[in-house]
Amino acid sequence: MTVEKMAEYLWGLPEQFTSIIEQGIKLTPKYRRQYSNIVVTGLGGSAIGGDIIRTYALQKAQVPVIVNRDYDMPAFINSDSLVLAVSYSGNTEETLSAYQQANDKGSSVIAVTSGGKLADIADKDGWDVVKIPGGLAPRAATGYLFTPLALILEELGIIQGAVHDLQETAQVLKKLRQEIQPDIDWPQNQARVIAREIKNSLPVIWGSSARTETAAMRWKAQINENSKAPAYCNNFPELNHNEIVGFGMPKDLLSQMVIIILRDPQDHPQVQKRIEITRDVIRSQVKNIIEVQSRGESFLAKFYSLAYVGDYASFYLALEYGINPSPVEVIDFLKRELAKD
Ligand code: PA5
Repeated sequence: MTVEKMAEYLWGLPEQFTSIIEQGIKLTPKYRRQYSNIVVTGLGGSAIGGDIIRTYALQKAQVPVIVNRDYDMPAFINSDSLVLAVSYSGNTEETLSAYQQANDKGSSVIAVTSGGKLADIADKDGWDVVKIPGGLAPRAATGYLFTPLALILEELGIIQGAVHDLQETAQVLKKLRQEIQPDIDWPQNQARVIAREIKNSLPVIWGSSARTETAAMRWKAQINENSKAPAYCNNFPELNHNEIVGFGMPKDLLSQMVIIILRDPQDHPQVQKRIEITRDVIRSQVKNIIEVQSRGESFLAKFYSLAYVGDYASFYLALEYGINPSPVEVIDFLKRELAKD
């Protein structure tokens, strides 16, 4: 995939939500029942949608949503569990293994994939398969991967208002992309400003538990995969109980760190106070502290508005380094090596 293609996919994110909404999700009636838990199982770009739905459900659902990023499913799953097996390629070995365990334990399973073995096996086992458009990098297909999860939970009555929130998200992102797209140059373009600031530095992204934590995780993964650069993330209030103590030494490493704080006006008031105090504590130790503000009303619009700035910033950082953001050769190499007998 070329640089231009990645730029095209970044631009097209809002339309991913609307196209899946228009297409709709039609579940077979057997799924309409009570569940004691919901497990989203997947890895990497396919798992992050699980974290978005997990944190979204924390605000809305009476049933716990858990994300599983492993070969093995948690011991608690049983016939009262709904398992959403998500793999963009449909061929990720951990997801196939977790799928098998869920099927063996009698859980209700829905596969979300563009095809591959997961689509074939789930279909043969009699489970619904939500097919999404293929041919993108999984991280460029986040709208296609997340929207079905939200629509499935809404369809099953586990959450309400998802379609409305996704439509708002698309509107917020359409406005935001006008400000951060490649035609808008530094310094008007916030994503370009951040990319320049974190170039040759160590970005550390901080979010808040249950609200912006997944956006911080997304920023980290996008910098890793698009820019081929290290990045780390953590959350308030937890980081105030350990990470904050680690800003003493080594001075030369700390002076290379850029702290990016993802802010949401609905963060707990004490979290907002913690952010202000923490800024003052570390200000003189690090290269810079940057804040990015969420936009929109709904949890989803706030999440995606923060994540979208990170998507573009990681794209511009790749360009600053002279790197094509698209390929992830090390991931492909690992998958090939692991597939060998
Ligand atoms: O971004 C990537 O390419 C990875 O993080 C993949 O999403 C991950 O390896 C899992 O693959 P898939 O999404 O096809 O299940």
